[in-house]
Amino acid sequence: MDTVRWGIIGTGGIASGVVSDFRLVADAEVQAVASRSQERADEYARQHGVTTAYGSYRQLLDDESIDVVYIATPHAQHRDVALAAIERGKAVLVEKAFTTTYEGTRQVVEAARAKGVFAMEALWTRFQPAVQAAKEVVAWGRIGDVVGVQSDLIAHREFDPTDRLFDPALGGGALLDLGVYPISLAQHFLGDVKEVQCLARLYPTGIDAGATISLRHDADALSSLTCAFDGHGPGSFRIFGTKGWVEIQPRFHHPTTVTVNRAGALPRVIETRPIGKGYAHQFAEVTECILAGRTESATMPLSDTLEVMRILSECTRQAGIEYREATVDLG
Ligand SMILES: NC(=O)c1ccc[n+]([C@@H]2O[C@H](COP(=O)([O-])OP(=O)(O)OC[C@H]3O[C@@H](n4cnc5c(N)ncnc54)[C@H](OP(=O)(O)O)[C@@H]3O)[C@@H](O)[C@H]2O)c1
Repeated sequence: MDTVRWGIIGTGGIASGVVSDFRLVADAEVQAVASRSQERADEYARQHGVTTAYGSYRQLLDDESIDVVYIATPHAQHRDVALAAIERGKAVLVEKAFTTTYEGTRQVVEAARAKGVFAMEALWTRFQPAVQAAKEVVAWGRIGDVVGVQSDLIAHREFDPTDRLFDPALGGGALLDLGVYPISLAQHFLGDVKEVQCLARLYPTGIDAGATISLRHDADALSSLTCAFDGHGPGSFRIFGTKGWVEIQPRFHHPTTVTVNRAGALPRVIETRPIGKGYAHQFAEVTECILAGRTESATMPLSDTLEVMRILSECTRQAGIEYREATVDLG
């Protein structure tokens, strides 16, 4: 194989937002798109120059020319679509949050491992050049021993019970949609977690408008994280160490700048430039892994996705939110 042929499932906001970045990835080609409606698939294919448009997810999954499926549906629809792709031997890139429950994630991870196919969560933040630079700064010991992280991701959204963001049946809620970013990045820098405390504010639909999360990581470093739909915030991510601190900016989930502050020294600023809109990095990672015959990404391994979903599920349990994975009609 010298070209990896991608299929996109779902034609909503993110599927339209990312598609131009595929053109910036060597050896990757978007071959097909699938929608629950032939009309929407045709329109997406016309707008974005995709060769094949399928009016059902099953048709794309049964297309033997597709190597990897990018799953861009609401959260509750990820599990069934991922399992159906894996069953057919296709690699999967699953949008965040990976599923709505830890059990759903475990099922997908076990299926991918049993089948020996590549699977990854589309946590694009980990692949941003600024995040990778910050990771190196911390690994070199420039800020000493890491003692904590402080982060917020707050994106104001008007409450609309018909929108996936607010619908429990589609896996709505700030924790799954936004909280996954600071939790995943805190886990990336500070490792696995032995204690979770979560306070949340709920909408009338039973999912969270906002939450604060405290984590005690295995090495006793502490993370203090916030996410919300009903406010505004800077999108900060700060890593504190015994000799200084690092800030990732502007909004940390797709940043350009890292500032390294060391006690007694002037701050050092590292500027980076993501490729395209910043999604190209994760598509390149998947494409390269598949061409190399790898089944997981070293930057976003399935063990980290399992740990992040374990933390998220504990948060939603403490908040009194109940999620179920949806049963998806593949058409
Ligand atoms: N990485 C990022 O920056 C980023 C940004 C936004 C969202 N996301 C993630 O991307 C995923 C999709 O989010 P989105 O904002 O693109 O959502 P969206 O605009 O609502 O689109 C979701 C698409 O999923 C399909 N779908 C399948 N079953 C559905 C159902 N029961 N109800 C509604 N739609 C259904 C629909 O496509 P068809 O009708 O064509 O089948 C729909 O257009 C989520 O996991 C989200 O967290 C990531």
